[in-house]
Amino acid sequence: MRTVYIETYGCQMNLADTELLLGHLGRSGFRRTNDPAVADVILVNTCAIREHAEERVVGRLGDLVRHKTRRPHVQLGVTGCMAQHLRDTVMTTLPFVDFIVGPDAYRRLPELLGDPTGDPFVDVRLDRTETYADIAPEREGGVRGWVTIMRGCDKFCTFCIVPYVRGRERSVPADAVIAQVRQLAADGYREVVYLGQTVNAYRDGDVDFAELLRRTDAIDGIERIRFTSPHPSDMTERVIEAMATCPKICPQLHLPVQSGSDRVLARMERGYSVATYLDLVDRLRGAVRGIALTTDVIVGFPGEEEADFVATCDLMRAVGYDAAFMFKYSARIGTKAGKWPETVPDEEKHARLQAVIALQEAQSAARNRTLIGSTVEVLVEGPARRRDGWMVGKTRHFKTAVFPSDGRRLGDLVQARVTDATAHTLVSAAL
Ligand code: SAH
Ligand code: SF4
Ligand code: F3S
Repeated sequence: MRTVYIETYGCQMNLADTELLLGHLGRSGFRRTNDPAVADVILVNTCAIREHAEERVVGRLGDLVRHKTRRPHVQLGVTGCMAQHLRDTVMTTLPFVDFIVGPDAYRRLPELLGDPTGDPFVDVRLDRTETYADIAPEREGGVRGWVTIMRGCDKFCTFCIVPYVRGRERSVPADAVIAQVRQLAADGYREVVYLGQTVNAYRDGDVDFAELLRRTDAIDGIERIRFTSPHPSDMTERVIEAMATCPKICPQLHLPVQSGSDRVLARMERGYSVATYLDLVDRLRGAVRGIALTTDVIVGFPGEEEADFVATCDLMRAVGYDAAFMFKYSARIGTKAGKWPETVPDEEKHARLQAVIALQEAQSAARNRTLIGSTVEVLVEGPARRRDGWMVGKTRHFKTAVFPSDGRRLGDLVQARVTDATAHTLVSAAL
């Protein structure tokens, strides 16, 4: 049996694709290994979202190539978004790479790998219909199962590479999604997380995202439902109502805002204004009491002036996010904004990034501290990393909570009293 080693970069969708690749390759006679030194095939499943992500992969490939030097039969390949992004240059800039396969060409991978002595190959065709609905993933295990319900993106925000590397938006048939969730429940998973770049744009015939959520809520064995990332423009009343009425849907939403300046949002072509975003936040808070909100923010977008940046900080304060992912703008070849001159020098971008991080850290800590003394429900994921004899899990608001183990096991739903809190963790005691 040939063995495959795979390393994954990027978002949750890419991690889910790795599970898909492992499932597909597993049924084609490949066995997974966690040691590249014994692997026959080495895959790096890549991300192209920012330059830094690509640089890390290039460095890592340079590292992994030594396995080929020692064992020349080894095939080293690049899959995922960077394979698609750098399809024209990868084979010349990284001549030791044996193959590159884009996100819509995984079905053919086992066949392409069929002949270990074959020529290098490239398959980066995008496919408007490929959803891999019939390919079962090989999952990592644990309590939480990730299910990709749609692929691609049609929004074309001016900064973003995703629509170019992942192709057009398409949804997995609802029956296939529900079958996967039933399988998760049968396999002992207790939480499902639906994935898509604009997950709430999901549609299969008459089944929209709200309807899919309702059908999922009815599946026995699944205790918690989450999804990421919803686009603010697709956050319909129907979805909000589903969140408010389905007991298993967790009171938590990652709602990427990107900027708090209308001028910048318009140039990003995000399709909403600060006012409509804030109105959405109000409606969500009105419908789902205590909902935890998180976001993504980009600083240093071309044309972002000091006043725009201040507006972003103001918006972050006004919403009071529970957490945020914050990034320096990184120009991507192929995107609309990638052609625009950069106006914010790197030191300034860096300063703005540090400022929003400090702002958010303080807010996260303050919000978490309000939970001290309250009782939270924790779905236990396993032993805590830095505390011997402690367990870790997530609350319904997707906050990390640790507590002394006391015989609790993976998959248990534990009621715990919060005794202390930092920006990233709730310290608690199981009741
Ligand atoms: N589909 C999601 C975003 C997926 S990409 C959405 O629409 O919100 C994850 C995050 O990476 C984005 O929200 C954005 O904040 C960041 N990002 C995307 N392109 C970027 C770029 N060129 N430079 C810096 N950050 C970027
Ligand atoms: Fe990128 Fe915008 Fe699509 Fe999100 S919605 S993946 S930011 S183009
Ligand atoms: Fe990166 Fe591709 Fe995800 S570019 S963020 S791995 S969709």
